[in-house]
Amino acid sequence: MTLLPIAVLLSALLPPCAAAPEPYKVLEPPLDTPWTSRAGNTPWAATYPRPQLRRDLWQSLDGIWTFQPTEEIDNQAPPALPLEKEVLVPSCIESGLSGIQVMGVTNMWFGTKFSVPPLWTNNRRVLLHFEAVDYEATVYVNGDEVGSNRGGYTRFSMDITESITHSEFNEIHVYVFDPTDNLSIPQGKQTKRLSHIFYTPCTGIWQSVWLESVPENYIWGLDLTADMTGNVTVTVHTNKQQSTPLEINIVDTATGKYVAAEQLVSDKTFSFTVDSPKLWTPDSPSLYNVTIKMGDDEVASYTAFRTISSGMVDGVLRPLLNGEFVFYFGPLDQGYWPDGIYTPPTPSAMAHDLELIKRLGMNMVRKHIKVEPEVFYEACDRMGLLVIQDMPSMRVFDNRRPTDDEQAEFGRQLEVMVRQLRNHPSIAVWVIYNEGWGQITDYHPEFELTERVKRLDPTRLVDAVTGWHDHGAGDFHDNHHYAEPQCSTPWYSQPNTAYDANRIALQGEFGGIGLRPDDDNLWPLRPAIDTINETYEIHAGIESYHYRARTLLRLLREQVEMYACSGAVYTQTTDVEGEVNGLMTYDRRVVRIDEEAWREDVKADGLMATNNDATFIVFYLEATRSVNTTFHEVTNRRCCPSMWAT
Ligand SMILES: *[C@@H]1O[C@H](CO)[C@@H](O)[C@H](O)[C@H]1NC(C)=O
Ligand SMILES: *[C@@H]1O[C@H](CO)[C@@H](O)[C@H](O)[C@H]1NC(C)=O
Ligand SMILES: *[C@@H]1O[C@H](CO)[C@@H](O)[C@H](O)[C@H]1NC(C)=O
Ligand SMILES: *[C@@H]1O[C@H](CO)[C@@H](O)[C@H](O)[C@H]1NC(C)=O
Ligand SMILES: *[C@@H]1O[C@H](CO)[C@@H](O)[C@H](O)[C@H]1NC(C)=O
Repeated sequence: MTLLPIAVLLSALLPPCAAAPEPYKVLEPPLDTPWTSRAGNTPWAATYPRPQLRRDLWQSLDGIWTFQPTEEIDNQAPPALPLEKEVLVPSCIESGLSGIQVMGVTNMWFGTKFSVPPLWTNNRRVLLHFEAVDYEATVYVNGDEVGSNRGGYTRFSMDITESITHSEFNEIHVYVFDPTDNLSIPQGKQTKRLSHIFYTPCTGIWQSVWLESVPENYIWGLDLTADMTGNVTVTVHTNKQQSTPLEINIVDTATGKYVAAEQLVSDKTFSFTVDSPKLWTPDSPSLYNVTIKMGDDEVASYTAFRTISSGMVDGVLRPLLNGEFVFYFGPLDQGYWPDGIYTPPTPSAMAHDLELIKRLGMNMVRKHIKVEPEVFYEACDRMGLLVIQDMPSMRVFDNRRPTDDEQAEFGRQLEVMVRQLRNHPSIAVWVIYNEGWGQITDYHPEFELTERVKRLDPTRLVDAVTGWHDHGAGDFHDNHHYAEPQCSTPWYSQPNTAYDANRIALQGEFGGIGLRPDDDNLWPLRPAIDTINETYEIHAGIESYHYRARTLLRLLREQVEMYACSGAVYTQTTDVEGEVNGLMTYDRRVVRIDEEAWREDVKADGLMATNNDATFIVFYLEATRSVNTTFHEVTNRRCCPSMWAT
């Protein structure tokens, strides 16, 4: 007997083999970072993606999948795997790290195969989680449509137990539709019409994908807050929504000591008190581990004891942390990467930005119209950085305002973002609109949206409108002004943002002074290079840049001392494409600012303290504008896909 007949028989039974996909390799991005070549094929696979609801039985599906562009689908069966090209998950298909690096694909398929560990079979269920897919996703498992989602920034999950087999390989297909620029959708700074402050878009599965094994009755969600009085408020949500007994334990992570052990039930809100907890502050970010046991299910989480509020301090309305005024100072943090666009090349690359911010003595980060992987917020919780979290803006093109449906969808996605992130102790403020983008101004939807966010999360402040069209909504009166701050000063540039003593005065953006980096650290594409001269103030040399940076911090300090300024956001953590005004260059290789001087200025008495001396002094400083717009031609030293060179 020979094996030949069996092989012949097998080949007759199997469908024709799909062609082998084009293999994955990192494509050289226009500018790389120290992490580009080290990222490998699974940069995110070892990082647990949901740090505030952890379970032991999970499996990452990050790694090499396959991809192909398609037309709009209409009940069409998913194509055979593998698809045309290998692609890195998670990544934006516009990024070099994706291995695709194309712009302008609107409809596409992603696919992979997976097996389920045998341990997961007995009376358990299998959940499939996507941390973020931009913009709409329809998910198929072994050909069954198992779920769909709209919104590019938040998690969605589905129970796939009925569609999988445990003995062999299973298939996932994800159909993605991303209409960036074509509809008014929350898209932040993404655009295909690249310009100075609007950048390369992100399309596809840009955050982690993973599987989780849960028992038949399981905890699907947790609302957990803990305040400065020791009051813990908790709601444990279960899939069956039936009151089920459970035990919750709280442990001081510094000492390992139990501080609470409560017997509660699920799907109902409880409060209990922990005696003299260590409070969370940026200087002392004490965290407490939380475990919850319910029947066969057990999850781990963490929380921190702290209270965000506002109140009068010496006649001025202030943001309070644990009842005390803390001046918010930190950078505008966009979270863009030259090699990964929206996806940081590795988790340690992401942490690197936060470490610089912390090292400079700042206590806050404004996450600008983007939602990060949840481990970003975990890092802020752990390191002690307050977060001002923006809702990703809608963009409005061609003078068209958002339709009622688009506006309703914006509000829905805002709620999804708040629900997903609200357990993170570091988040202090929610921002609804930035500089009027997507903001309807003939009626003022920010009032209703502010109410909605406050109902969902009464433990945070709301900055309804950061910059431009302020109509009095929310807790903040927030001015943007470049380069000099104008924080609660009486000479605001925008007549519709005249200082309002009934709200907290915040300088939502200032600074942004620039210096062209060396060619080696510059994003070398035409739309960026051609608009470098739109940088608010560009310096000819590092000496005047350093001088001016210190001047801006001095002006801010004077405004803190003389007026009612309660916080400020410096633009920005890094250069982004044609914006050359970062504390660091876009590739994170050069720290542009004078670190020593910044540390001194930030820590200087006054900036983090307050003295509301009402002395009125008008001073106006003529910008030391030393512009050299004669940029030399950037040689085409790196490969750039032709579609970028528009
Ligand atoms: C953009 O929208 C227009 C009008 O709805 C449509 O005709 C066009 O196909 C869309 N383009 C893309 C790339 O989706
Ligand atoms: C604890 O906080 C909850 C939610 O804000 C509140 O309903 C409850 O009364 C508080 N309990 C105490 C003892 O302050
Ligand atoms: C707290 O939880 C984290 C994450 O699960 C774990 O690594 C750490 O050991 C825990 N600390 C204590 C004191 O239990
Ligand atoms: C910037 O440079 C471009 C191209 O050289 C030029 O067309 C534009 O007018 C300049 N803009 C400003 C604000 O100087
Ligand atoms: C402006 O910059 C260009 C290119 O770096 C340089 O060649 C030129 O000398 C500079 N001009 C002045 C006035 O500094």
